Amino acid sequence: MNYIKKKLYIEKISIPNIAKKYGTPCYCYSYSKLKENIINFKKNFSSFLPLICFAVKSNTNVNIIREIKKFGLGADVVSKGELMMALKAGINPSKIVFSGVGKTSNEIGFAIDKKILLINAESLSEIKEINRIAKLKNKKIRIGVRLNPNTDAKTLSQISTGKKENKFGVNKNTLYGIINYCKNSKNIDLKCLSVHIGSQILDHRPYEKMLKTVSQIINKTDHKFEFIDLGGGMGITYTDKNKKLNYKKYNIAILKFLRNHKVKIIFEPGRSIIGNTGTLVSKITYIKDSGSKKFIILDAAMNDLMRPALYGAFHKTLPVTKSNKASKEPYEFVGPICESTDKFVTLKKFQMLKEKDLIAICDVGAYGMSLSSNYNLRPKPVELLINGSKIKVIRKRQKHKDII
Ligand code: LLP
Repeated sequence: MNYIKKKLYIEKISIPNIAKKYGTPCYCYSYSKLKENIINFKKNFSSFLPLICFAVKSNTNVNIIREIKKFGLGADVVSKGELMMALKAGINPSKIVFSGVGKTSNEIGFAIDKKILLINAESLSEIKEINRIAKLKNKKIRIGVRLNPNTDAKTLSQISTGKKENKFGVNKNTLYGIINYCKNSKNIDLKCLSVHIGSQILDHRPYEKMLKTVSQIINKTDHKFEFIDLGGGMGITYTDKNKKLNYKKYNIAILKFLRNHKVKIIFEPGRSIIGNTGTLVSKITYIKDSGSKKFIILDAAMNDLMRPALYGAFHKTLPVTKSNKASKEPYEFVGPICESTDKFVTLKKFQMLKEKDLIAICDVGAYGMSLSSNYNLRPKPVELLINGSKIKVIRKRQKHKDII
């Protein structure tokens, strides 16, 4: 995104033109940014050619997944719905991994029928259930087991997953039990050890620590894993204050790990692939003066973008048309929903705004639309994919008749 003659552009199209044609609020994704992210991600780990499975939960738009698939990526899914969507986007089942702590029998049966690469199980009970269903179907099923390495990812507590108090994965003693169980099972082929310590990680050290732990744990068993699935979690810079994740150091730590373990690495990135490609464009409905600050009441709300309300997450917010006049009071950008947490950001300094002006909320490609809801019976926004001077509607705006 950049300003040309004071107007904000996504690739070669000005946001006011987009808003005029498609209305607001609207999600816009930049194709060239997506391409750049995938190419960079691959480059960062090119020395060992991992299988990269896009975490569909971060963005479930079939057209987005289709574009990602064209670069050879697979998918990490966490529900039957996501698995169906990945298949609909044309992702080869041999590149799909299925994570999650509570897969139902129906979901397991479906995954088996679709012959996906791995079902990454998270408990002995789940593995027994996979075994039961596989036996009924007279099949041997490739599975992974998710280890909880008890590593602090140094990220927001709500999106940290690798500590022992989190519900994810199994501890090392349970893991050894599971390895024994699988050895004696004719219907299960334990191929993979998976870990995912959290999301929006900007410090490479938790990854280093996690790799050390995994290495120590697998050294203590004679089981040969074919895959190590390192999950996703690579963070992006939502603010200029965020320091970038040091991919070089993460890569070095993995190379070191691979010297001792001959395995294929799987990644499950979501945010690092799609996060910074998305912008939510919204129009100011009203401006309300409250004495010490002004409420900028937008036509977008927490149902369209939940992250600020749910995690106190910060998203850079930009004026679509630049002016030199500064506001006198702080601005609080809010939505129209009947909740005090329906608020995007409070900014002490901003340019002067007026009703009907457009606002761009940045870096919403991951966990933006995918976390959206119909709360307050608000229809979901349109999604657009922008490539140069072309715009493609990749999901239509919901209509009231769709939800009423
Ligand atoms: N693999 C597993 C098993 C996961 O649980 C997740 C994310 C990923 C991969 C992808 O992580 P990523 O590369 O996107 O960080 N809604 C939160 C993020 C929740 C992440 C959940 N798991 C947010 O908006 O920040």
